[in-house]
Amino acid sequence: MAIIRGIRANSWIGVMKKSMNKRRQKVLVANWKMKPESLKEAKLILKSIKRVSKKISKVRIVICPPIIFLSELKKISSGAKMDFGAQDIFYEERGSFTGEISVSMLVDADTRFAIIGHSERRALGETNDIVSRKLKTALRNNIKSILCVGERERDEHGEYLSFLAGEIKASLSGVQGNLIDNLVIAYEPVWAIGKNAKGAVTKRELEEVVIFIKKTLSDIYGKNKAFDIPILYGGSVEAKNAAELVADTQIDGFLVGHESLKPENFAKIAEALNSK
Ligand code: PGA
Repeated sequence: MAIIRGIRANSWIGVMKKSMNKRRQKVLVANWKMKPESLKEAKLILKSIKRVSKKISKVRIVICPPIIFLSELKKISSGAKMDFGAQDIFYEERGSFTGEISVSMLVDADTRFAIIGHSERRALGETNDIVSRKLKTALRNNIKSILCVGERERDEHGEYLSFLAGEIKASLSGVQGNLIDNLVIAYEPVWAIGKNAKGAVTKRELEEVVIFIKKTLSDIYGKNKAFDIPILYGGSVEAKNAAELVADTQIDGFLVGHESLKPENFAKIAEALNSK
């Protein structure tokens, strides 16, 4: 793994790792995708997560439900420390675009987070160019934008790292440094996503990729700004591996799919982050 060895040998990594130890509030994003099937079920899940959120003081919990459930869920979330987000946004701010939801509608609904460029949307045809347009629109409107990146597969020669760097750079193309205060990166290797995936990355793999992503971001925005961009991990984060994934890997939180619909397990993931 020559590329990673090269990165590790690089003298500024020590400095970088120290700066990355900055205490930052951890973020736990629930990506419900196209689930559950009814508002009734969604409310039950949210009520349980609300109980969890009351015991968790150091983690910012962000629920990204199907948008049709959003306003009803917000009603029952009052009094809980949790935020809501969209699973996608549209890049045009206004106009006749059947089926789309504008950023100002999200802001009006007091929804300040959005997942952008999730691999499941990319698989439906979303290109880096579309992702970068969405990001610019979201960031201009002060939406905390969770940019998802990740390789489809890994190879022994480290080519997946070139893919990753290319995807990050293309997704951030035209996103100026003055817009990135609300940028969050979610590293989500596609091969690790979903209940049927072969599993999450290992702690060591994650640690290395986080360094690589920071290096890529610092090539674009300079070290100081790059260190301030939180990095989340997503892909088979479960109650059983959350504590290990957060230990010593420098990540700032998780983006959780299937386990975010199981409140008991989601609570364990939240606790793992909270105790870090
Ligand atoms: P998973 O999904 O936790 O079910 O692997 C993560 C995601 O797709 O964001």
